[in-house]
Amino acid sequence: MTLQQVGHRFGQRVMLFHDVNVTLQAGHVYALVGPSGSGKSTMLSILAGWTTPTEGEVLRHGVWRVNWVFQNPCGVARRTAIDHVMLPYLAQGVTVECAERRARALLAEFGLERLADRQYRELSGGEAQRLMLARGVACNADLLLVDEPTAQLDIHTADTVNARLGALARRGTIVVVATHDHRTRDAATDVIDLEDYQ
Ligand SMILES: Nc1ncnc2c1ncn2[C@@H]1O[C@H](COP(=O)(O)OP(=O)(O)O)[C@@H](O)[C@H]1O
Ligand SMILES: [Mg+2]
Repeated sequence: MTLQQVGHRFGQRVMLFHDVNVTLQAGHVYALVGPSGSGKSTMLSILAGWTTPTEGEVLRHGVWRVNWVFQNPCGVARRTAIDHVMLPYLAQGVTVECAERRARALLAEFGLERLADRQYRELSGGEAQRLMLARGVACNADLLLVDEPTAQLDIHTADTVNARLGALARRGTIVVVATHDHRTRDAATDVIDLEDYQ
């Protein structure tokens, strides 16, 4: 997908960024960086198609399914962890057995296998966030947008998440991660720095 001369402002305020020209390719992990308030979450919303940019165009060729992993994870309190990951597989039409097998494998990739049968409300903030990432992967999107995924995680867990995002991209997804974390930035294949577009 391609951004052509994209710029955005809210109302009559100053432009957050302008003249953004980038092509996003499957197989890449893009770290979207910039100080707090620079417009990272806004840019994710533009990529998702939820916000129409004030200027420029977004060409979405080859991008059908978009999945957004929110900064504040929002699961269903009394559902188990594994339910959250099985649901997208069931929605894709696979059998319950197959959905469960895939969901367990994915939970293991994110270091959550022991928490499969816990209710969502019993998870810590970092566990909930990794669960939402696993669910994002299960959705099998063409474009995965992730807002500050490692903010609540310790370094080891953050490295696991960074590695999983890379593995996901290599399966053919465009991954865009808004982040403050230099380790996430280092694990990305490309960097989009909003400070370059002010
Ligand atoms: N819906 C909105 N209406 C008006 N201003 C907004 C809206 N969303 C974000 N902003 C403002 O735009 C700026 C960029 O916000 P945001 O994209 O959330 O930055 P970041 O994610 O980099 O911290 C902030 O000053 C924020 O207050
Ligand atoms: Mg933000």
